[in-house]
Amino acid sequence: MNFQLSEEHEMLRKMVRDFARKEVEPTAAERDEEERFDRNLFEQMAELGLTGIPWSEEYGGIGSDYLSYVIAVEELSRVCASTGVTLSAHTSLAGWPVNAFGTEEQKQKFLRPMAEGKLMGAYGLTEPGSGSDAGGMKTTAKLDGDEYILNGSKIFITNGGEADIYIVFAQTDKEKRHKGITAFIVEKDTPGFSMGKKEKKLGIRSSPTLEIIFEDCRVPVENRLGDEGQGFKIAMKTLDGGRNGIAAQAVGIAQGALDAATAYAKERKQFGKPIGENQGIGFKLADMATKIEAARLLTYQAAWKESQGLPYGKESAMSKLYAGDISMEVTTEAVQVFGGYGYTKDYPVERYMRDAKITQIYEGTNEIQRLVISRMLMAD
Ligand code: CAA
Repeated sequence: MNFQLSEEHEMLRKMVRDFARKEVEPTAAERDEEERFDRNLFEQMAELGLTGIPWSEEYGGIGSDYLSYVIAVEELSRVCASTGVTLSAHTSLAGWPVNAFGTEEQKQKFLRPMAEGKLMGAYGLTEPGSGSDAGGMKTTAKLDGDEYILNGSKIFITNGGEADIYIVFAQTDKEKRHKGITAFIVEKDTPGFSMGKKEKKLGIRSSPTLEIIFEDCRVPVENRLGDEGQGFKIAMKTLDGGRNGIAAQAVGIAQGALDAATAYAKERKQFGKPIGENQGIGFKLADMATKIEAARLLTYQAAWKESQGLPYGKESAMSKLYAGDISMEVTTEAVQVFGGYGYTKDYPVERYMRDAKITQIYEGTNEIQRLVISRMLMAD
């Protein structure tokens, strides 16, 4: 085994870290406060090649791997979890299914501009009545000539409103439940496709989360992704990798909170010495650092497995479960290290704590991750 990152991975980490510190961190608190998405940051990520990390150069990517991708999401989330999830949803949830299931034409038309950062991607699975039970969706797609007519709505869409391309799942045969679900690539300006309510959220407030609505929305047959009835599997396989992107986000948030808490524990003096010299605080920092390292290793392992073409669904569910849970724990402890100051907006730890919560919820709640893992254990 070799736990050392390659030179390529180290260089990418440094590049993203520098970008995150210089360009993303200075406005993170303000964007959070104003619930403001900054498209310019996405454009800058595109210039650095970050919008197409794992995709081949043939499709506009930089031809790297999933480990580079999770390192990028981690480093962005270390200063701004909203920017981290923008890249994660764009890459794992929108680019991934087109790369894996798209035709050559679809890859050239949609994956290439997404990888180049000219178009932004999003993913629409959840509905008001179907969250954890994703197969219970009500949105329909009816074939009419060479078009499908979509009707229904999807909620909690990360990058909603800002994205140009939406991977959407709909029932083409309701009787068949999950076997009747089909995936589509829907372009933002398609007539009958509109944006609904924008959510006001506890955390990741500078990442837009919207409802998307389909009213007799006509999508050409050539935008169907995969075959009719293949949609549920496409959705699930997409989430297998997506969950590891969220694990990387959770690791980054926790690391950002630990960075801040450690700096504060060195500088803040009480009873004549830095508070970090008290075991009550020092041991807290030790536990936080240990848990982050374990979560990071799980995340990197899942990414490495995916890059090697090995099964990674269970590992990805484990990394999201563990990293999400410890991110919530670590950020809560970081607020505790700061005491009363941690509860104010003068320091970033309250934002990290609010941002961490979503990593236990989206791309499958951590209860669903336990279900996925336990089912795989029972099937072995
Ligand atoms: N890969 C391939 N196929 C899979 C699969 C996977 N990972 N998981 C399930 N399947 C297949 C099964 O093999 C089965 O196939 P057959 O019918 O051919 O046997 C079929 O899918 C149905 O599987 P299940 O019986 O296990 O389905 P289920 O209804 O019990 O649901 C579930 C399984 C794991 C609970 C699933 O519904 C699920 O993951 N729910 C959570 C949904 C979720 O994560 N939503 C997040 C949305 S994205 C988001 O958060 C927003 C954002 O923008 C960030």
